Amino acid sequence: MAPSRAMSQDNYPHIRWFRYSAPYINAHRGKTFVLVFGGEAACHANFANIIHDIALLNSLGVRLVLLHGARLQIDQRLAAAGAKTSFHDGIRVTDQATLAHVKDASGSLRSQIEALLSMGLPNSPMQGSSIRVCSGNFLTARPIGVVDGIDFQHTGRVRNVDAVGIRQNLEQGSIVLLSPLGYSPTGEIFSLALEDIAVHTAAAVAADKLILFGSRAGISDADGTLVRQCDLGRAQQLMNSCTDEEQRRLLGTARRTCTAGVPRCQIISYTEDVALLQELFTHDGCGTLVSSDAYEQARSATINDVGGILELIEPLEAEGVLVKRSRELLEAEIGYFRVLERDRRIIACAALYPFEQQSSGEVACVVTHPEYRGSDRGQRLLQELQSTALQMGLKQLFVLTTQTSHWFLEQGFAEATLDVIPAQKQEMYNLQRNSKVLVKSL
Ligand SMILES: CC(C)(COP(=O)(O)OP(=O)(O)OC[C@H]1O[C@@H](n2cnc3c(N)ncnc32)[C@H](O)[C@@H]1OP(=O)(O)O)[C@@H](O)C(=O)NCCC(=O)NCCS
Repeated sequence: MAPSRAMSQDNYPHIRWFRYSAPYINAHRGKTFVLVFGGEAACHANFANIIHDIALLNSLGVRLVLLHGARLQIDQRLAAAGAKTSFHDGIRVTDQATLAHVKDASGSLRSQIEALLSMGLPNSPMQGSSIRVCSGNFLTARPIGVVDGIDFQHTGRVRNVDAVGIRQNLEQGSIVLLSPLGYSPTGEIFSLALEDIAVHTAAAVAADKLILFGSRAGISDADGTLVRQCDLGRAQQLMNSCTDEEQRRLLGTARRTCTAGVPRCQIISYTEDVALLQELFTHDGCGTLVSSDAYEQARSATINDVGGILELIEPLEAEGVLVKRSRELLEAEIGYFRVLERDRRIIACAALYPFEQQSSGEVACVVTHPEYRGSDRGQRLLQELQSTALQMGLKQLFVLTTQTSHWFLEQGFAEATLDVIPAQKQEMYNLQRNSKVLVKSL
């Protein structure tokens, strides 16, 4: 007899993970991601793993622009040479002598990254990968000039990004690698801030995501708790209350990039082996997402949400799409609900009723307000319920539905017979409704 899919998956967890990742692979294919890492990241022991994951993303059809900084390497070269540089307002003044070190540090680091991306050693994650890396004069710079009487000389700002040139290379499957140097139409070289390059490049190539690597898991609030998601207003608040320079810089770059039209910026750690793939291929991610969308918070429902949920579900109960729930029943079961809130209004909800003894859970009452349909909010809530179910150790989800079976089929459920659901639920099955039973293995 052929083994059941659940049994095979249990024996081969990586197969389960691969299947679980398929929707993310499809969602990311053909998208443009700009990845930004400073010089400290590039010399961290975990950088080789990041390079392997970059190679993997490239092979999955993600269009990648990599931006590297070199502050640490520049400082090291200046120190080794006993050279002194001055700063004004936290910005380095790049005189002719400093520029030589900036060019050396950037050029050397760029070559190292190109070499790492060219690896193809057998028995390594890079085996069989053949990556074309493309660097060049994509950034046009202008001098900062004289500020407060200080001439910044070869310290510049991004004047223009050759988005057409970058896109042409991305379309041919190359990875574009940019260093923190820009060239002016007068033929001079300017040292550029990585953050400035990140904002301008991500906006110019209309990136789908900007991914910023920092030394911590993401952004932490005043209590030290990791902020999973925030909108631009909250990002500004966090910046105002934060004293850590790196965190402020990351938040500031994410905010500016979102304001420039990039929908999502993700801040993750360069020290954690799994961070990049976890952020991109799991629902919960692992870092901080700064998003330009009006903030929609998904959270567990509380007793205060009963009114909002009733408003959402009553029209569907009247149509017979959902089974009628009284206010009292909803109050008693509110702990099973998750809601999506926007502007203090409940715009979507979904419930998970666990049957823990049978390792099973019922999904019910998945509703998006008609004005907010068309952006996969239902799917988002369902995925959250799935994560909760997995955390609870449940092995399958089931749903009873009369009119929405096709939507659930598209979410990976399959039609099943009544006997696959827990016995106590079978007893409550309403023959008159003649609902379809759909099941999804987790
Ligand atoms: C099912 C539901 C929650 C999905 O909401 P959503 O993800 O926020 O967004 P949408 O409504 O745009 O649905 C997403 C897709 O599913 C499709 N879809 C929605 N309801 C469907 C149904 N009953 N049968 C088949 N497909 C359906 C939509 O057409 C859309 O497809 P598209 O992207 O190709 O246009 C929402 O349509 C809803 O509230 N439906 C009424 C309540 C319901 O039936 N709930 C399930 C009972 S538990």
